[in-house]
Amino acid sequence: MAEMKKVKAAIVGCGMISGAYFNGAKKFPSIEVVACCDNFPERAKEKAEEFGCKASTNKEIYADPEIEMIINLSPPKMHSTINIEALEAGKHVYTEKPFGVDEADAEKVIKLAKSKGLRVGSAPDTFLGAGYQTCRKLLDDGWIGKPISATAIVMGRGPEKWGQAPFFYDYGAGPMLDLGPYYITALVNLFGPAKSVVAMTKKGSEFRTLGADVAEQYKDQYKPYGKYPVNVTTHLTGVIEFCNGVYATVISSFEAFGHNHPPIEVYGDEGTMCCPDPNTFGGPVKVLRKLNKDGWVNAPLSHIYSDNSRSLGAADMAVGIRNNRPHRCNGDLAQHVLEIMLSFDKASEAGSKIELKTTCERPAAMPLGLDDGQIPE
Ligand SMILES: NC(=O)c1ccc[n+]([C@@H]2O[C@H](COP(=O)([O-])OP(=O)(O)OC[C@H]3O[C@@H](n4cnc5c(N)ncnc54)[C@H](O)[C@@H]3O)[C@@H](O)[C@H]2O)c1
Repeated sequence: MAEMKKVKAAIVGCGMISGAYFNGAKKFPSIEVVACCDNFPERAKEKAEEFGCKASTNKEIYADPEIEMIINLSPPKMHSTINIEALEAGKHVYTEKPFGVDEADAEKVIKLAKSKGLRVGSAPDTFLGAGYQTCRKLLDDGWIGKPISATAIVMGRGPEKWGQAPFFYDYGAGPMLDLGPYYITALVNLFGPAKSVVAMTKKGSEFRTLGADVAEQYKDQYKPYGKYPVNVTTHLTGVIEFCNGVYATVISSFEAFGHNHPPIEVYGDEGTMCCPDPNTFGGPVKVLRKLNKDGWVNAPLSHIYSDNSRSLGAADMAVGIRNNRPHRCNGDLAQHVLEIMLSFDKASEAGSKIELKTTCERPAAMPLGLDDGQIPE
C-alpha cells in the first residue's frame, strides 16, 4: 500500500461537508486532494489555504491532466451535472449522496462512465466503518441465524435549525433522499440487492416556517425568512423486499419531534441485532440471542474505522483504480439505492408494488486487521 501511486483528486464544492473530506483524505495514502473549486471562489480559497491545496476553477480542474478523480460535494441537484462534466473530461468521479435526484440522470452517469472506462463512486461510505462491518460479520457468521426481517427508522422534525430548510423541502431532498442513502445502503450491505418496494408517503403540511435559530452563515442565502413551500413528501413508510427474502420496514420522516426506535434492527430466527446510526462509522452493536440468558449484549467492534472517516469510500475507489479491482461504494450500488428510495413515492402514488429494475452486487466486506489508513488491496 505504501508504494501505491496516489490518485490525485480535486474537490468540487467547498461547503459544509468538505472539511470532513479534506481531513479524511489526509488519513488515506491512496488519495491526495491537490485542488478544489466552488461557485463562490472565496470558499475554495479558504479551504485551499486551510488544507494545503490549490484553489482552482471547475474548468482548470477538468483540464488538469494530473487530476484523475473528482470528488463531487455539490448540492444534490448538481450531482449528475458535475458527474457528467467530470466524466466527459476523462476523470473518475466520486459523488456525495444522493447519487442523483432522478433515475434517468443517474443512468446517464453510469452509462457514460462505462463507455469511457471510468469509475463512478458515491457516498455513503459509513457502511464501510467499524459499526456496520461488525453488523455484517455477525450476520454472515450466523449470530442471529437466518435474517427474516428488519426495521430502518429515521424520524425527526426536520432540519430547519440548520438554516438550509428550503433546500431540504425541495425536489431532490426530503427525508428519503437526504437521510435514506445511509439507511438503504446499510441494508443493501447487510442483505444484498432488493427486489421490490411497497409504500405510502405523504406531506405533513404544505408549508414550513423557518425557525429563528438559523445558522449565522446562511442568513444571507435564505432571506427573507418565513413560510416556504414543501415540495417533497415528508413522511415515507414502506417495506423493501430483498432478494434474500428479508422484508425491511422503513420509516423516513420529518414529521416527528422524537422517537425511541433504534436506527436499524435485524430480526433473525436465532436472535436480534440492534445496529448503530448508519450516518456514523462506529457502534454500538447489540445482540440478543435465543441461547443467551444474559439478554442483550454489546458486541465488540471487529473492524477499524469507528471515527469519522469520510473519504474512506473515495480512498477505496482509488485503490480499486490502481489495483484494477471493484470499489465498494460503486455506481451500481448507488443507482440501486436511488431507485429503491424513489420507489417509495412511486409505490404510494400507484397504490401498488414497484418491481425494481436495477440491481447490484453486495459490496465486498472489509477484512479484519487493517491498520489505520490502510485499504484492502
Ligand atoms: N452537510 C452535511 O452534514 C452533509 C453530510 C453528508 C453529506 N452531505 C452531502 O454533501 C453534499 C454537499 O453538502 P453541504 O452540506 O456541504 O452543502 P453546501 O451547500 O454547504 O455546499 C455545497 C457547495 O457546492 C458549491 N457548488 C454548487 N454548485 C457548484 C458547481 N457547479 N461547481 C462548484 N461548486 C458548486 C456551493 O457553492 C457550495 O459551497 C450534499 O449532496 C449533501 O447531501 C452533507
